[in-house]
Amino acid sequence: MLYAELSSWWPVFSPPEVYAERAALFAEILKKACNPKLVLELGCGGGSMAWHLKKHFEMHLADISPQMLRVAAQLNPDCERFQADMREARLNRTYDAVFLNDAVMYMKTEEDLRKTMATAYAHVRPGGAALFVPDATEETFLERTEQGGGELDGREGRYMAWFRDPDPTDGVYEVDFAILLCERDGQVRCLHDHHECGVFPRGSWLRWLKEAGFQAEKIAYHSEMFLGRRG
Ligand SMILES: C[S@@+](CC[C@H](N)C(=O)[O-])C[C@H]1O[C@@H](n2cnc3c(N)ncnc32)[C@H](O)[C@@H]1O
Repeated sequence: MLYAELSSWWPVFSPPEVYAERAALFAEILKKACNPKLVLELGCGGGSMAWHLKKHFEMHLADISPQMLRVAAQLNPDCERFQADMREARLNRTYDAVFLNDAVMYMKTEEDLRKTMATAYAHVRPGGAALFVPDATEETFLERTEQGGGELDGREGRYMAWFRDPDPTDGVYEVDFAILLCERDGQVRCLHDHHECGVFPRGSWLRWLKEAGFQAEKIAYHSEMFLGRRG
């Protein structure tokens, strides 16, 4: 629902300004890794992160959701865009770097995550790198709530996201969003959206990246990220 019917609300909930600090960090990591000129973002969502990163690199954007790509296009009309599943995409070109932030957690199985790593590898030129930023690893996942929201052009949205792991042995956690939307006429509605996400041990991340062909390393910041270099 969040990435389809509610896509037009994305800039209300999550305006580009809130991405500035993390975007600066990702730009620094990518520059240090391979000094890229051209970067592909898989799972670009509404394009808010790309809006910052394009000040440093030429960005191409891919997402499985046509609605989210339309939102990304409004913010980034200057970026090439592709509707593509990160597990299957083959764009028949290579990039200096591939970037996945806040999207790779939708890979719920080892098979899907390995397919996504293969997609990244297929699109990184030799000497380039792929940066994977999952929400958490098995070692760092925390049950918690997060809240946020904002307003834009007379519309307001607020959400609370509840991260839970009812079965810590199955490699999947759940996120339930309670969403309040206030239209321009003042009418408020309340919606619920349920997401299921994959969480894997950091050792598996590193092993699967190596098996996909990358030289793999873990980068520790607030959360963990994984950098795969293509030799
Ligand atoms: C939270 S948004 C991403 C935000 C964006 N990466 C950023 O940092 O601003 C998650 C996105 O992942 C996309 N997504 C989920 N599964 C996908 C898949 N299999 N292939 C490509 N995109 C996918 C969703 O459509 C959604 O737009």
